[in-house]
Amino acid sequence: MKSLVAFYSRTGNTRIVAEALAGALGADIEAIVSDTQGKGMSQLVLQTLLRTRARIAPPKNDASLYDLVVVGTPVWARNMSGPVRTYLEQNKNKFKSVAFFCTYGGSGSEKALKTMEKLCGSPAAGKLDILEGDVKSTEYAADVKRFAAKILESQH
Ligand SMILES: Cc1cc2nc3c(=O)[nH]c(=O)nc-3n(C[C@H](O)[C@H](O)[C@H](O)COP(=O)(O)O)c2cc1C
Repeated sequence: MKSLVAFYSRTGNTRIVAEALAGALGADIEAIVSDTQGKGMSQLVLQTLLRTRARIAPPKNDASLYDLVVVGTPVWARNMSGPVRTYLEQNKNKFKSVAFFCTYGGSGSEKALKTMEKLCGSPAAGKLDILEGDVKSTEYAADVKRFAAKILESQH
């Protein structure tokens, strides 16, 4: 089975989880590239709330070549980040099977994951949220392994 982990990360937390997950799944990895780096927190929150379209660079990997795509985002304003919204809008029709994960400070992860699932229009093979504090203390490793096993199991 061929899997892809596609993620956006502004400050590195989601990247850490994405890399661990890609290792556990034996997946290729796609770092979504966007122009949010120079923007301030309040500007990003406003853009997320208004759903202003974030621009992203063309992906390096063709999602349609994978049996499973796992998409990861930081939670912004209790939702998915703008770059991940753009990625899903542009690629959701290519997904055969999809799962989601997020990192977050303390609120809105469930809503963000549900919104991602709704946007893609089919039930997720799995959903995982990891607190940013747990990423820093590597508390997340067992959760990532369990999540990887669950989504691999769902593919049979
Ligand atoms: C613009 C912005 C909005 C955020 N909004 C939320 C939020 O609504 N709820 C939450 O729990 N954390 C929120 N956070 C914290 C991030 O979700 C958290 O730090 C995450 O791990 C960052 O991931 P990254 O390092 O991959 O960019 C926000 C961070 C930013 C920059």
